[in-house]
Amino acid sequence: MSQIGVTGLAVMGANLARNIARRGVPIAVHNRTASKTHDFVSEFGSEGNFTGSDSLEEFVQSLERPRRIIVMVKAGAPVDGVIEDLVPLLDKDDIIIDAGNSHFVDTRRREQYLTEKGLRFIGTGVSGGEEGALNGPSIMPGGPRAAYGEVEEIFTTIAAQVDGEPCCAYIGADGAGHYVKMVHNGIEYADMQLIAEAYDLLRHGIGLDVPTIKGIFDEWNTGDLESFLIEITATVLGKTDAATGNPLIDVIVDQAEQKGTGRWTAQDALEQGVPLTGITEAVFARSLSALRDQRKAASGYLAGPQPGGLSESLVDDIRKALYASKVVAYAQGFEQMASAARTYDWDLQMGELAKIWRGGCIIRARFLNRITESYAETPDLVNLLMAPYFRDAVADAQDAWRKVIVSAVDQGIAVPAFSSSLAYYDGYRRERGPANLIQGQRDFFGAHTYRRVDKEGSFHTRWSQDGTEVKTD
Ligand code: 6PG
Repeated sequence: MSQIGVTGLAVMGANLARNIARRGVPIAVHNRTASKTHDFVSEFGSEGNFTGSDSLEEFVQSLERPRRIIVMVKAGAPVDGVIEDLVPLLDKDDIIIDAGNSHFVDTRRREQYLTEKGLRFIGTGVSGGEEGALNGPSIMPGGPRAAYGEVEEIFTTIAAQVDGEPCCAYIGADGAGHYVKMVHNGIEYADMQLIAEAYDLLRHGIGLDVPTIKGIFDEWNTGDLESFLIEITATVLGKTDAATGNPLIDVIVDQAEQKGTGRWTAQDALEQGVPLTGITEAVFARSLSALRDQRKAASGYLAGPQPGGLSESLVDDIRKALYASKVVAYAQGFEQMASAARTYDWDLQMGELAKIWRGGCIIRARFLNRITESYAETPDLVNLLMAPYFRDAVADAQDAWRKVIVSAVDQGIAVPAFSSSLAYYDGYRRERGPANLIQGQRDFFGAHTYRRVDKEGSFHTRWSQDGTEVKTD
């Protein structure tokens, strides 16, 4: 009998199954198209104890009880389809584990549905791409605590390990795991956009060539910015196109695609009223990049400065701007998770989340240690920017950060994530902003009332009548 099963043997499912099998866990594998299961077993069968099944019935029968079934199919309707097929074949307390990039709202719905059927459901985030799935991903499981207990050993064994600790921890009830994975992806979007903006300034603002920029990213990867995304940026920039002999980056179409997790993060932030500006700008930047034909038409038509000629002394300033903006992206992402914890009644452990992102996942980075430390020092930290380490880091970077944004604006180089992050920072550190005027306007045209700084209660001014103020409550 197999201890666990994986259905869905596309690359993520296949790699996860191999990872589990390589740790000595007997595993059942299944795919809708039986030939795929056969191919999988003949190719990787020697890596562990696999039981391949042609039918879902056979697959379910080959599992120990309570059954533990990882579903690794495309997010959305296919997950519901597999669940519907599995339900009649399962027994009380069996566990279905959705390890795809499902929307947390769907996970909440599925968890409730399966609980009503006497089954258990774990919605788990798995990050690290194909490589991570095979060699150790970061795992973010959500669902009933007791159900997690049944898979904990396998999950913590297959996860990436950092300083002897697994990059896997129980996140919280129902959709908490997929929620945290969603925000992880949102941060991934912001991080990628910030790196792209830095590249744009180096390339078109200063005018450096691609090999030089590759070298800069290599160097940045030895300091505070050390991370998987900076590392792969250098690798991507170092790749020569076999067909043209030029850097591959120069022949890749400048349209960023997206599968939805970044958009969901931004949508949820709007729902919760969390000012998630960096991630949201990163999503919009992808949308703008997609308008390739319009950009082509506008490029010879709309006026603006021609970039180029910035001093090379700006390189280090760009590094600092990138770091400060990245801090803001994380601060906002963590603020969003704290808000979600209140909304959905999840006991999210912020320091723990940063800890399980230190290895295996796409946003793994040296600076996550600092986030863990900050939450360890102050568990109820309201905003990462208020932690002494990050306050000082941003204070050190801010002159450079401002200079870089001013230069970009002068040059006509769009840096939406850099500049929105700075705008957030400047807005956040203002005790009194200009929203008093907005309240005055709202009261003028809609009698929406305002509060006063010197008195309790709500007030309205009779703007179009006698101009007197009345207390409305
Ligand atoms: C990960 C990645 C992974 C996937 C992204 C891509 O953590 O392993 O985030 O989940 O590569 O979802 O997302 P986009 O296609 O939206 O860029």
